[in-house]
Amino acid sequence: MPGLPPRPPSPNLALDQLVHERRAAGESLVHLAFGEARLPLLPGLADALAAGAGQASYGPVAGRAEAREAVAGYFARRALPTGADQIVLAPGSKPLLMALQLALPGDVLLPAPAWNTYAPQAAYAGKRAIGVPVPVGCGGIPEPAALRTALTRARTTGREPGSLVLTLPDNPTGTLAPADLVREVCEVAAAEDLVIISDEIYRDVLHYPAASYLSPAEIAPERTVITTGLSKSLGIGGWRIGAARFPAGELGRQLRDGVVSAASELWSTLAGPMQHVAAYAFAEPPEVVGRLRDAARLHGAVARAVHRIALGAGADCRPPTGAFYVYPDFGPMRAELAARGVTDSASLARRLLEESGVVVLGGHLLGDDPEALRFKAATSLLYGDEEQQREALAAADPVRLPHIAAQLTRIAVAFAGLTGRPVPGHAFLEATR
Ligand SMILES: Cc1ncc(COP(=O)(O)O)c(C=O)c1O
Repeated sequence: MPGLPPRPPSPNLALDQLVHERRAAGESLVHLAFGEARLPLLPGLADALAAGAGQASYGPVAGRAEAREAVAGYFARRALPTGADQIVLAPGSKPLLMALQLALPGDVLLPAPAWNTYAPQAAYAGKRAIGVPVPVGCGGIPEPAALRTALTRARTTGREPGSLVLTLPDNPTGTLAPADLVREVCEVAAAEDLVIISDEIYRDVLHYPAASYLSPAEIAPERTVITTGLSKSLGIGGWRIGAARFPAGELGRQLRDGVVSAASELWSTLAGPMQHVAAYAFAEPPEVVGRLRDAARLHGAVARAVHRIALGAGADCRPPTGAFYVYPDFGPMRAELAARGVTDSASLARRLLEESGVVVLGGHLLGDDPEALRFKAATSLLYGDEEQQREALAAADPVRLPHIAAQLTRIAVAFAGLTGRPVPGHAFLEATR
């Protein structure tokens, strides 16, 4: 229809579809372009789903009391006392992030690079997404001085930013911003009267114990909304269970009401059986805690191996500390790559696909400088079929399992092949902390 703006599908979902089609046609691909934690379903989750099957009526828009109480308890165990009335459940955190954009005034400030959905959601809400570069050592938060500059620049051009998204730990860099930087950024947000949206969907996928985790809601409680969910930590993205925690106080109530209003027009309520699952999982019985621990260990081991591969190929790369991503920067190899016709992140991602069958997400799709030679590699699809995933979860040294080592070797050959470097030995299989 004339006048309709082009809205391409989300690039990670589009690439996932491409991989399915090309694999169905017989091609062998290493899929590093989709952030799904593919793990065997925890039996307790299946039991909770079955037990909730009778919950077939619509139910309250914000979610049933038992499920909201379980989520409130989850936050209380993380140093954030929370009432059930501060919680809204939804079919995934993605719609909650969209509803927040609809409820909030003003443009939105994002770290650059950032998860590929924030900017299109801002556009759907009629806002401008303003990307602010992340610090050298971590992603998920804007560099504080750059944030101040971006705010000043936005205002001189007549824009009024109203919110700031932080991702802790981060997709796409796989890092957790240190507490002092989180504090500094929150202080800027408070001084500038920005609402903070703290996307904490990877909080339970930290590779090391979470002693140093500092939520923006601990620093700026009156203005921070947290979103979370079970898609990543428990690998049930297809079940679509997300939750938001709103601040106590007047602003929190207004934001919650705005989100509930959008929810009432968009999704009505989280499916009843899924609310039963949420009540079970957010209560964190021992088997859930054990699964979170084993999964985080596996994600960390494999992400660190891909990190070592990237360094071995001559790239810069922040050491991963959370989630299941690495974000290599082949800038140091720019001359060698240019000689081979690779000059930006799009051509870099294309070359990896065409020459090596390795599928990654170019940084240009994540709000990064398109000229930069960076891409996101999601490492959580390397664990094999269901039986192999079980083995990987239980293994002391998962990267040495033949099915994982074989894929890592293929990635090492692909990365080295970009610049014609000699293919490395198997040093990337040596576990490091
Ligand atoms: C940073 C981040 N936030 C939110 C989501 C959305 O997850 P869901 O809608 O499954 O809760 C994702 C999924 O990829 C993500 O990476």
